[in-house]
Amino acid sequence: MKTFFNVEDIGNLDQALAEAKEIKQNRFGFQKLGKNKTLLMVFFNNSLRTRLSTQKAALNLGMNVIVLDVNAGAWKLETRRGVIMDGDKSEHLLEAIPVMGCYCDLIGVRSFAGLKDRDYDYAETIVNQFVQYSGKPVFAMETATVHPLQAFADLITIEEHKKSKRPKVVMSWAPHCRALPQAVPDSFAQWMNAADVDFVITQPKGYELDPKFVGNAKVEYDQKKALEGADFVYAKNWSCPGVTNPADYGKILNKDMNWTIDKQHMSWTNDGYFMHCLPVRRGLIVTDDVIESDHSLVIPEAANREISAEVVLKKLLESL
Ligand code: CP
Repeated sequence: MKTFFNVEDIGNLDQALAEAKEIKQNRFGFQKLGKNKTLLMVFFNNSLRTRLSTQKAALNLGMNVIVLDVNAGAWKLETRRGVIMDGDKSEHLLEAIPVMGCYCDLIGVRSFAGLKDRDYDYAETIVNQFVQYSGKPVFAMETATVHPLQAFADLITIEEHKKSKRPKVVMSWAPHCRALPQAVPDSFAQWMNAADVDFVITQPKGYELDPKFVGNAKVEYDQKKALEGADFVYAKNWSCPGVTNPADYGKILNKDMNWTIDKQHMSWTNDGYFMHCLPVRRGLIVTDDVIESDHSLVIPEAANREISAEVVLKKLLESL
């Protein structure tokens, strides 16, 4: 595996899940692979889980780790070509990336969507430059359109808790006070479509995700209907993906609190589990009683971020 952005990159999904199970039981069993290898984690945006879990996974594998917070101590980076750099940006990404590549064996990048220019975001302009110019394997730690380490951890969590062979998994949009990117729902949809689950997306009109991520998923605009019989409820906010109206890209079109997942919503499910990638805004996405209930999987999901990261780093190390 030379890059990790999409579900296809991991190869056979059943084998990847089996590997995750093995690593969870023996997370220090592959330390020889990472000896004298260095992971560089580059953050253009904030993080708690991704930062800690990926670093922990690398340490489990015997790697050295360097963390660079681009907006806290590094030179401000220009990302566009053809500009006269007479503003506050001292270095161009096109020099910075190959320099970063000199100091490491693997690079993880977190670079969120700007939500201003759909074409720029959906072309994955920043991370593709890392792939092109770093000379090193690159993996997503949440990019403009994907967050595969999260989706893989979510799938591991569903595998661990499912009560039937093919559970019903419902991803429900929920309200938020800020415009959020689509990376988490995009990846979750992509991975659920590849997994052996009955996958449904429910959202208000106007929030249709990019068709390349929706794939064959069932889209149900009636949230109650969607949640009926659900084994897993994956709540998430996302801003308008601009599919039906590109001018609305990145906007908040709806703040309807009837979409907040509360006890009544969970009562429509098949005694279902509540899931969210975190961080989560209580009172908007989910009520206190639901996230604190014994059917909330938010902490096991976060714990499995260490496992998904370790599987991915192991596969990248094996390909060096
Ligand atoms: N779920 C997730 O990626 O969390 P962080 O943004 O804290 O890394």
